[in-house]
Amino acid sequence: MSPARHLVLVGMMGAGKTTVGRQVAARLQRPFFDSDEAIEARTGRTVAQIFATDGEPAFRALETEVLAEMLDDPEPAVIAAAGGVVLDAGNRERLRAPSVQVVWLRADPAELARRVAGSTHRPLIDHDPEATLVRLAAERDPLYREVAAMVVDVGGVAVSEVVEQVLCGVGVRS
Ligand code: S3P
Repeated sequence: MSPARHLVLVGMMGAGKTTVGRQVAARLQRPFFDSDEAIEARTGRTVAQIFATDGEPAFRALETEVLAEMLDDPEPAVIAAAGGVVLDAGNRERLRAPSVQVVWLRADPAELARRVAGSTHRPLIDHDPEATLVRLAAERDPLYREVAAMVVDVGGVAVSEVVEQVLCGVGVRS
């Protein structure tokens, strides 16, 4: 993969997209964007508030809008795309464009459940996070696979090691 394109991290909630993305962006000296943060900055509301007041379809429409804008920016960036972006066929098509390289940060639902335990800002996480994540993973794993040029298994792996693996995968020596 060439480093001179947008690098997009995808994967489930708790996979570490934002944490890893920030560090990868710093190493590549590129701007970093996070789709949830962009939505919150644009609307002045949290993701949880948008889900609660406008519903998930309205949130997904905003998600599609900000992803398209980030990918349309000609300056190569590192983008942490929220877990649900792959649900939309148009988003998946954009992510498969030659100007985009996608890395899937993958972990088992049990590990993801431990990571998101106690999180109050994720509206899809309910009283049984692991069961929810198993269900979401069954639906989404084929979609992450469809868009990703590279998969990094993050289960039990230190963030610094995940960062190195992503950088190696995009052609930057560590
Ligand atoms: C979601 C993931 C969240 C956030 C919202 C829905 C999902 O972002 O967009 O809670 O559908 O997977 P992160 O993947 O950054 O946690």
